[in-house]
Amino acid sequence: MRTVQWNFQTNQLEMIDQRILPGAFEIISYTDYHALAHAITDMVVRGAPAIGAAAGFGLALAAQQSSASEVKTLRTDLQNAAEVLHASRPTAVNLAWALKRVMEVAQLTPGGADDVREAVLREAQQIADEDVEINQRMARNGAALINDGDTVIHHCNTGALATVDWGTALGVIRMAHELGKKVHVLVDETRPRLQGARLTAWELEQYGVPYEIISDNAAGYFLHTGQAQKCFVGSDRTAANGDVANKIGTYMLALAAHDNGVPFYPVVPTSTVDLSLASGDLIPIEERTPDEVLDLQKGGMFTAPARARENGWARNPAFDVTPARLVTGIVTENGVAYPPFEESLRRLVIG
Ligand code: MRU
Repeated sequence: MRTVQWNFQTNQLEMIDQRILPGAFEIISYTDYHALAHAITDMVVRGAPAIGAAAGFGLALAAQQSSASEVKTLRTDLQNAAEVLHASRPTAVNLAWALKRVMEVAQLTPGGADDVREAVLREAQQIADEDVEINQRMARNGAALINDGDTVIHHCNTGALATVDWGTALGVIRMAHELGKKVHVLVDETRPRLQGARLTAWELEQYGVPYEIISDNAAGYFLHTGQAQKCFVGSDRTAANGDVANKIGTYMLALAAHDNGVPFYPVVPTSTVDLSLASGDLIPIEERTPDEVLDLQKGGMFTAPARARENGWARNPAFDVTPARLVTGIVTENGVAYPPFEESLRRLVIG
C-alpha cells in the first residue's frame, strides 16, 4: 500500500504508523484534520513529500467535516484547517506547498460547496499520484550516478515511507538495484529517532538491497578509509542557492564527504525547493522535545542520568543546513543541477 492514501470506500485517510516500525505494521485511519495535524507532529507520518501529501488530504478531511452549505463558509473552514495543518511541522516546505496548492483550487473552483469539496479531494489525490511519478523520474536521473559495485552512505529515511511511494534518495538506490547495478548501502542509524535503522533498513530488506547499519558517527571513518563511493540524502527544504536542509547529521556527513572527495548528492523533488529563500540560513529549523534524545535505553536502563531526564538537559534540533559548497549535485525529477545552483536549480524548477 501507499504510505498515505485516501480510502474512497470509507472516505478516510489511511497512513502507515511509522512510529512502531519495524516491530509492527499498522494502518491508522483518520476522519478529523486535527487528529491528522497531531499525527504529523507526532511523526506517525514523516518525510517531506509524505507530510505534504497528508496535509493535502487533511484539507479533504476538513472539507468533509465542515457542515457549510455556503461556499464562502466552507472556504473559511478550509483556511482555518490549513493554518492548523501548517503549524504541525515547520521545516519541510512540502507541507506549505501542498496546502497552498489545494487552497488555490478551493478558491478558484466554481459552483457550490459540494463542487469545492470534490475539487479539494481531487487535487489532494493528484498531489499524491504525482509524487509517485516524480519520484520514479528522479530515481532514474539519480541511478545514472551510481556505478556498478558502489557502496553508498544514506542518511535518515527517504524511501517509500518518506513519500507517497517509491522514495527520493532511497528511490535512487532502489532504481539502481532494479536496473541490475550491484549497490551496497551503509545505513546511518539516524539518532535520535532512528529513521535509518528502523525504516530504511526495513525497506532495503524488502527491495533485496544489501545493507549494513552504521552509527551516525561512523560515517567519517568509512569515507576516510575509502569504503564508500557516494552519499545520497533527501531534503526537507532546499534554498535558491542550493543550501540543503535535511535530517540532523546531514551537514556532518557532507563535511566528511567533502573532505574525502566523495560525491554528495541530495535527491530533491522540485516541490521541496523554496526559491523564495535566498539561502539556507532562512530555513526554519524544528527543535523537538529533549525526551527524544534522553529516552535511549540499553539493557532496560536509561543511558542519560536521571537529573538530565528530569530537567530535559538535552538539545534536539531535527534538521541542519548543508551549505551548497559541500553539495556535488542536486538530483530532481527534471534533471541534475550542478553548481552554481542559483542558475541551474532555478532552471530545473521553473523551466
Ligand atoms: O523528521 P523526518 O523523519 O520527517 O525527516 C525526514 C528527512 O529528513 C528526509 O530526509 C526528508 O524528508 C527528505 S526524504 C523524502
